[in-house]
Amino acid sequence: MSQDYPRDASLIVPNISSYQITANAPLKLGIMASGNGSNFEAIFQAIADGKLNAQIQVLIYNNPGAKAAIRATNRGIDALLINHRDYQNREYFDKQIVDKLRQYDVEWVILAGWMRLLTPVLIDAFADKIINIHPSLLPSFKGIRAVEQALAAGVKIAGCTAHIACLEMDSGRILAQAAVPVFPDDTPETLHARIQVQEYQILPQAIALAAQS
Ligand code: GAR
Repeated sequence: MSQDYPRDASLIVPNISSYQITANAPLKLGIMASGNGSNFEAIFQAIADGKLNAQIQVLIYNNPGAKAAIRATNRGIDALLINHRDYQNREYFDKQIVDKLRQYDVEWVILAGWMRLLTPVLIDAFADKIINIHPSLLPSFKGIRAVEQALAAGVKIAGCTAHIACLEMDSGRILAQAAVPVFPDDTPETLHARIQVQEYQILPQAIALAAQS
């Protein structure tokens, strides 16, 4: 019975317990977030714990009031607001982002709850070096409200995916996935919380994996 399944059960593939890159210089990360920023926090913590050899150069956020900006500032990391509402189209918006990422000498771009579609301007500027985290087992449930989509579909296993971003939304080479059980009494909030615990594991791991491959 799924009710009896441990609430914190998970399956992460690949199963890498230690993913620190020791031989290379720290990866220079630019993190992009639209809202809460708990994945930003998880990356910061993985670095602080010595699990990921990286440094966060800058946080870019697009929504004024995004909690991610407060989290970054509190940790001494520059938080830049680039508000998509100030740009006439997606390309101009992405151009401004690319310019800032370059200014901060960013090598790897991490979409940690970034809720805007990317254009070739950004994808091509950081080809194969943009990593996205999405709260579903891709290729199922792309786009917004992925957790609600999974619940509506009645799946018994949900999860999250870290992947290389490409032009097609929530697509691209998969780096790591984590699966969690779905319970009959789950709401979007309880299921999302269970998935997020796993996001915090696989996103730093995926960054290390991508950099090694
Ligand atoms: C995360 O669950 C992430 O997977 C999702 O937004 C949330 C951000 O949480 N991303 C997407 O849905 C992208 N398609 P956070 O702001 O607390 O890190």
